[in-house]
Amino acid sequence: MNEIIFSKDDPYIEKISKKSQEVSLVATGDETEVMIHKIQADTKFILFPGESESLMEFFYVVDGMLSTTINSKHIFVNENEYFNVKGLKESIYFKAEANTTLLCVSSQLQFHYLSNEISELNVIVEKVSEKDMYTQEHNLRLQDYSIRIAKELKLHNKTLYNLLYASLFHDIGKINVPIEVLNKPGRLTKEEFDYIKKHPEDGYDLMKNSCIQEVGEIIRQHHERLDGSGYPHGLKEDEICIEAKIIAVVDTYDAMTSDRPYRKALSPIIAMDELKRLKGIHYDEKIVDIFEQILMKEEKI
Ligand SMILES: [Fe+2]
Ligand SMILES: [Fe+2]
Repeated sequence: MNEIIFSKDDPYIEKISKKSQEVSLVATGDETEVMIHKIQADTKFILFPGESESLMEFFYVVDGMLSTTINSKHIFVNENEYFNVKGLKESIYFKAEANTTLLCVSSQLQFHYLSNEISELNVIVEKVSEKDMYTQEHNLRLQDYSIRIAKELKLHNKTLYNLLYASLFHDIGKINVPIEVLNKPGRLTKEEFDYIKKHPEDGYDLMKNSCIQEVGEIIRQHHERLDGSGYPHGLKEDEICIEAKIIAVVDTYDAMTSDRPYRKALSPIIAMDELKRLKGIHYDEKIVDIFEQILMKEEKI
């Protein structure tokens, strides 16, 4: 039987929604998928190499605008323009310059591979933010600054991709921390702090069977400090990966400059002074320097 489906009925097969992005799978063939991807202005996303070399993906900008940088050239993709990628070897990093709708056609089935596990992880992060109101905005700020630092350091696209997810999921292990401990206004007892100290390892466990399992290692290390004084494993210097070192700096800054149940927010200048005081002791010098420059450009400090 022939079948014809009109978009008027909004007949998506499956949809993944995040705060800033929505991907609807609208048609599938034996080995083809057609998706509509809605992205809010200022959201970043990454195209990453598929499992197989022969994967071809086509993207048409229905409305809005995207930008990307390829070989140090800044490129805009406007409404009614398109691009396609085949045999991608490195990830490509895009930003939506305005609210953007993309039509995507993929020569292989990608949607399920991408969506199921990541949307399950998103559900857990949403539960964490119900316990701790500060989480959602904090994760997005962390994502933004981490990516900017990584770009300044000219790190590989794969690192940007890892950071994109590691920043969103870094505290996912807090799902196991009791709400009274997360929101306690006073000092934590040793027992309570032991709960907090488990969250990087619990985060690693939650990620380890997902399609972004590399991100788990970053999450496990985001409270490690250069001199070995961090947790959970007391790793030092080069034992800590660069992504975790970046997250450590921005995470600490953002925590210091936000109101928390146990204290009021500190000013950006005081927070940066604290990071500088611990430069080379807890935090990577170069990362702190680059972060300071970014904040100066923003006139935060
Ligand atoms: Fe954390
Ligand atoms: Fe955090």
